[in-house]
Amino acid sequence: MAAVARATASSRALTKSLPLLGRLPKLSSAPTHSARALGIVRAFSALVSPPSRAVVYEQQVVEVPPVLVKENDVCVRMLAAPINPSDINSIEGVYPVRPQLPAVRGREGVGEVHLVGSAVKDLSPGDLVIPSPLSFGTWQTYIVKDQSVWQKFDKNSPIEYAATISINPPIALRMLEDYTSLEPRDSIVQNGATSMVGRCLIQIVKSCGIHSINVIRDRCSLESFQ
Ligand SMILES: NC(=O)c1ccc[n+]([C@@H]2O[C@H](COP(=O)([O-])OP(=O)(O)OC[C@H]3O[C@@H](n4cnc5c(N)ncnc54)[C@H](OP(=O)(O)O)[C@@H]3O)[C@@H](O)[C@H]2O)c1
Repeated sequence: MAAVARATASSRALTKSLPLLGRLPKLSSAPTHSARALGIVRAFSALVSPPSRAVVYEQQVVEVPPVLVKENDVCVRMLAAPINPSDINSIEGVYPVRPQLPAVRGREGVGEVHLVGSAVKDLSPGDLVIPSPLSFGTWQTYIVKDQSVWQKFDKNSPIEYAATISINPPIALRMLEDYTSLEPRDSIVQNGATSMVGRCLIQIVKSCGIHSINVIRDRCSLESFQ
């Protein structure tokens, strides 16, 4: 109540002072006609909320300090790393596999070997490599990890193919091979055929002489899919 009464009194003081404003000298960094002098500071401070704690989702690009390349490590300069839907899911917190935070996202990609540790024999600077098994953190310029997680890739492959071969093509193959046994001239039916997995599946069955019937939803960009 005291604060309200003071606020009302201060408002009156402010209203009373308003006609004077036109004649006040220009505000300097240390004003003599300060808000305190007008008696309004306490009235406004009553509207400040308490300090708050919040969960803040922030996308940051940070400089990561150099790390030691140990004898079995390979330092890879990343050339391309896609945004897979599973990356989005894990940022949303709904992907079953969750990294310890803070974390660098990106599960697949392709890079060029930059440096190798003294015990590494099968990889050399300049080799094209992909992470396999999939590892977190391809959305960065240099990655240092044990040689066992890097697989050499054909240098003549298009970069965009190499960067996206680790997730969707194997899933298409698993769908074809894990549930049934297909022979040439068999047919498969799939929905969601415009998806990356669906497109991979179409290419794989075609190369095996298997027919595919592809169900897609009606879209204005249908021509680009054909
Ligand atoms: N288990 C695993 O390790 C694994 C790995 C990879 C993928 N996957 C799964 O495989 C599926 C495809 O993945 P992807 O990366 O290839 O997906 P994607 O390229 O993002 O494609 C998504 C597909 O879903 C369709 N779609 C989206 N919303 C729809 C709706 N409301 N009605 C009808 N169709 C809809 C899209 O059709 P339009 O083109 O018409 O939009 C498109 O065909 C996903 O379910 C993914 O989770 C699983």
